[in-house]
Amino acid sequence: MKGLILSGGKGTRLYPLTYTSAKQLIPVANKPVLFRVIEAIRDAGISDIGIVVGDTAEEIKRAVGPGKQWNINITYIPQEAPLGLAHAVKISQEFLGDDHFVMFLGDNVIQGGISPLIAQFASSSYNSQIVLTQVDHPQQYGVAQLDDSGQIIKLVEKPKEPPSNLALVGIYMFDAHIFEAVNAIKPSWRGELEITDAIQWLVDRSYNVHAYVHRGWWIDTGKPTDMLEANSLVLEELTPTIEGYVDRDSEVDSRVTVEQGAEIINSVVRGPAIIGKETRLVNAYVGPFTSIYHHCLVENAEISRSIVLEHSQIRNINRRIEDSLIGRHVVVHRSPIRPRAYKFTLGDHSQLGLLGDEGS
Ligand code: G1P
Repeated sequence: MKGLILSGGKGTRLYPLTYTSAKQLIPVANKPVLFRVIEAIRDAGISDIGIVVGDTAEEIKRAVGPGKQWNINITYIPQEAPLGLAHAVKISQEFLGDDHFVMFLGDNVIQGGISPLIAQFASSSYNSQIVLTQVDHPQQYGVAQLDDSGQIIKLVEKPKEPPSNLALVGIYMFDAHIFEAVNAIKPSWRGELEITDAIQWLVDRSYNVHAYVHRGWWIDTGKPTDMLEANSLVLEELTPTIEGYVDRDSEVDSRVTVEQGAEIINSVVRGPAIIGKETRLVNAYVGPFTSIYHHCLVENAEISRSIVLEHSQIRNINRRIEDSLIGRHVVVHRSPIRPRAYKFTLGDHSQLGLLGDEGS
């Protein structure tokens, strides 16, 4: 069995972070989402993985490499434009050959336990297996309608009037019949070859498509709020370890991970939280659901329910920072230079939430 990860796209809803970085490389609990996807597939016993890449190909190749660190082989498959998930399958035919495969969207984060399902598909008689889960806004996804026995009646992409609240999760399993489907369907109203239409094509021709309903959580990390939510959920499941240094004036609770080379000086950290490699906290408070990535500094400042990317600094801030997604090499500090005013250097599409008068 092979793996196929889709890692193209521009990530416009995560601007400005995704001007300079692929959205799949944004870390959740200090590990890029794409690495989590690779590990989920590797854990299902698959060692041959293709990654479909677009505009951000070079950056993804640099971060992931040939796969040695996971003991797998990675093949990169360039997609000239984001023409749909079924298009990605089409251009991957040579890599996939006649093998069964699992296709995983590189920006999806799902609660553990999916690997046995993938592994079991390899020996099943299904032509395809899809993963569904209940969601609040099915209009935003592919949606499935099942009969009383759980058989698929129909699948629709982003329906205005959803036939159910069961969304297609970004994990799909196929045998080689999917190539007949992706070659037969036509682009949708949004100009893409939809995988949902390709699966419907299989259903219409009585191929055996099995629907598995996932009961845990699942997040499609398109927006900053999704990243923060995924970060909170993954942090809750992390097994904490302390490999860095915590001085005796600090208070670090039992749900905190302190990575190698990190230093916590005269600070309070309340879990679940993770402090990255070579990061320093000095006279700081880090609250629950926060991930600070490697080589950062938080000094005389307080932060909670946030993600801070590598090499960033937060210094001498007298208000707590909350619900924030802070990029790489960012400096947030109190300026000693007069006039006493806010001074910003913000990239295009940055978002800054300032306190109003009632907060001062
Ligand atoms: C794609 C699929 C959709 C699925 C979703 C899951 O949507 O077309 O059926 O529910 O992924 O993340 P897109 O991300 O292209 O809008």
